Amino acid sequence: MHVLGIDIGGTGIKGAPVDTVTGEPTEERFRVETPHPATPDAVARCVGDVSSHFTWTGPVGITFPGVITRGTVRTAANMEPAWIGVNAQMLFAKVLRTADGAAPRVLNDADAAGVAEIAHGAGRDRDGVVLMLTFGTGIGSALFLDGKLVPNTEFGHLELHGKDAEDRAAARVRDEKELSWDKWAKRVQEYLSLVEALLSPDLIIVGGGVSRHADKFLPLLDVHAEIVAAQLANTAGIVGAAMAVASSAVPS
Ligand code: BGC
Repeated sequence: MHVLGIDIGGTGIKGAPVDTVTGEPTEERFRVETPHPATPDAVARCVGDVSSHFTWTGPVGITFPGVITRGTVRTAANMEPAWIGVNAQMLFAKVLRTADGAAPRVLNDADAAGVAEIAHGAGRDRDGVVLMLTFGTGIGSALFLDGKLVPNTEFGHLELHGKDAEDRAAARVRDEKELSWDKWAKRVQEYLSLVEALLSPDLIIVGGGVSRHADKFLPLLDVHAEIVAAQLANTAGIVGAAMAVASSAVPS
């Protein structure tokens, strides 16, 4: 099956058609800048532009950096608050030209990245409790049991030292505070210890842009679980969004 995957992020909105059997994008990805302010209508126009670029009329999967239940946005920690309560599925359906008028599938960005890693990356063929964590502007989480997703876990908002964990240990914090890898890894370590105490995962997959530099911080971490870098890097969101349309491992 070929599905257009679109990944909505704080800086860019990226998309590509994906072969859901191989998990490979079939064309070069297309990116537009995320508008500022990133209001629902402005972002929807960009989603329409990505779809038009590929003259797409087939099925579409879209990620969003917040909790999504049945197509509706429930939280938007790093997006405009105007998103909360918006039926994103209906909003995006208006800017797409799907042949049968089918609404797109909309899901949390970290859940999508996890779905891609489980199907085609670092979590392939792994049973048990697998936790994907994405370190970027925030911390996203995706929890799997025997390959099946428990959606919208939001472990980036656990409390750490009286703060939202993502405000202490996201990759953004490393940039903003110009922390060394060593100093940032100490924060990530505290966070992972908390996560392990609560979930005891068998495998932790570390994703987000910072996973490109996994060699600089993964060796500094001491956790019980096996911990590995994500393999799909910057296409995980696109691939996972597309996979979610086709996969039975993702509850709607
Ligand atoms: C949001 C999550 C999202 C994560 C990564 C967090 O602030 O609450 O829904 O997955 O950032 O974008």
